This record gives sequence, C-alpha cells and structure tokens, in this order.
Amino acid sequence: MVVNLDGREMAAALLSIRTPDSRDLALLPLPLADLGHAAARRPPRAAAQRRGDGSPALVDTVAHEIRGPVTALAMSTELLADDYESMAPEQARLMLGAIHRRALYLQELVDNLLCAATIRDGRLKLHRGPLALADLLADTGSVVAPLLAEKGQRLRVRVGTRVPLVHADGRRLGQVAMNLILNASSFGGPGRAIDVVVGCRGRWVRVAVADRGPGLPAGGAQRLFEPYVRAGGAGTVGREGVGLGLSIVRAIVEAHSGRVGGQDRKGGGARFWIELPLD
Ligand SMILES: Nc1ncnc2c1ncn2[C@@H]1O[C@H](COP(=O)(O)OP(=O)(O)OP(=O)(O)O)[C@@H](O)[C@H]1O
Ligand SMILES: [Mg+2]
Repeated sequence: MVVNLDGREMAAALLSIRTPDSRDLALLPLPLADLGHAAARRPPRAAAQRRGDGSPALVDTVAHEIRGPVTALAMSTELLADDYESMAPEQARLMLGAIHRRALYLQELVDNLLCAATIRDGRLKLHRGPLALADLLADTGSVVAPLLAEKGQRLRVRVGTRVPLVHADGRRLGQVAMNLILNASSFGGPGRAIDVVVGCRGRWVRVAVADRGPGLPAGGAQRLFEPYVRAGGAGTVGREGVGLGLSIVRAIVEAHSGRVGGQDRKGGGARFWIELPLD
C-alpha cells in the first residue's frame, strides 16, 4: 500500500498493527526507499547537489530527506502513546525498533550536515589521542547494529594482530567508519556480510570496508569523494542520501595526513578504504 503524505510517497505496508482482539490500529509508514519499492523513484536532484551549501535547492533536498523519517516518527510515537496498552508486546517492540532506526538515520544526517559545514568553513579541528581501531570499530558496530539487523546483514571485523594504536581523533574517525559502513549496508544488499579489515601496509595503517553490492559506478571512485556527488547505476534508485558521506570521509582522513580510495572487489562488490600514517 502506498500513501502520499504532503507530497512524499510512503509505504504503509511494513507494519499493520493489530490488537489481540483483531482490531487494526494503524499503519506505520516508512519511506519507500527503505523498502526498495519501485514507487520510490524521485526526480533527479543532481542540479541541487551541484550547488553550494545553503542554496534553496540544497535546503529542499535536505528537507526531503528529513521529512520522511520525521513524519514516520511523529505518527508512530502518537500511535504508541494512544494504543500502547492494547498492543501485543511484540508489536510494540517492532514499532520501537523502527522508531530507533529512523532516529539513527536522522542523527547521522545531522552529524554529516554539521561536519560538512565545519569543513567548508575551515573549522575542522582534531582532538587527537592514542586510539585503538578495534575499539573504535566495535563502538561503531554497536551503533549501526539495528540498521544492519533490519536488512539481515552481518558486520565482520578483522583487525591484524600487529596493528598499533593510532594518534587520531576518535569522534571524527567514528564518523568515517559510520559513513563507510552505512554505504556498504545501503549498497550491499539484504542478508550479505560487510567486511571490515584493518592491517598495516608499510608506514600506513589501512581500514577497508567491503560489500557485495553492485560495485563502483562508472567513472571510478575519486569523484565520489566530492561533496554532493551521487552516481546513478545499480542500487541507487530511491536510495536515501545527500551525497556528503564520502566527502566527509576524505576531509577527515586528509586532516590526519591520510588518504582514501575505492575499487571494485574481486567476486563482486565495492571496497572503500582509508589509510592513516603511522607516526
Ligand atoms: N559501497 C558502495 N557501493 C557502490 N557505490 C557506492 C558505495 N558507497 C558510495 N557509493 C557511491 O558514491 C556516492 C557518494 O557516496 P556518499 O556516501 O558521499 O553519499 P550518499 O551515501 O549518496 O549520501 P549520504 O552519505 O550523504 O547519506 C553514492 O551515492 C554512490 O553512488
Ligand atoms: Mg553515504
């Protein structure tokens, strides 16, 4: 079932809440993009994405990204508040899980927008300290776990035994890891594993995030690290996003004197990586 809320199409098919006495309570709408629904095709936004920050087109794009999850949150919390007592615990749990995932999505979007503004204004400052990448990835993994679980995806993290501590900003590198893992989840396809491998290569420590999605779009990886670039091709139809994630990854890594890249993965999929210099 597809409903139209203030011009944005939503799928109302995900959760039909039924009380123990078989009364239909309501539907929990989620953006169609979450469901890979054909109706999720949106008008091209390339022009909006090419413009500078703060342009009406960008504000429009961001408002669209925010409206769906916020509408879903408003409706589902209202539902819970009104009907919580008559709901089966499992139904309430499902709704709370969906609410949590939407809140995580919004948190990530706002973090990226704030970080992009900081980078654009030359205000990116690092607060460096000794950092264990294994701990950082464990923390990021626990934050993204509900989003991966929704798609039946598993995060496999392998950290080489000789990887030393790095001298880095943990909060900023957390944003890097989050963006790479969420991209891998978004493109990787349901039920597929996401592999994160950390190892040393000469004077560098490398973190690589690999998925089994469609691989890199035509044109290669480097242009994807530019702000507001979103390539077309397999896996992108109806996908949420503004095109900021990889540009933030690059800016943060380069502020650490590091480098970034991406390539197709043997056997299918993409691998995006960052390298940080060892002191
Ligand atoms: N794992 C991947 N597999 C295939 N293509 C990818 C992958 N990660 C990124 N891309 C391509 O690079 C583009 C830019 O990625 P980026 O993370 O900057 O933006 P986004 O994910 O589209 O939006 P945002 O990160 O702002 O939510 C994507 O739109 C997609 O075309
Ligand atoms: Mg992204």
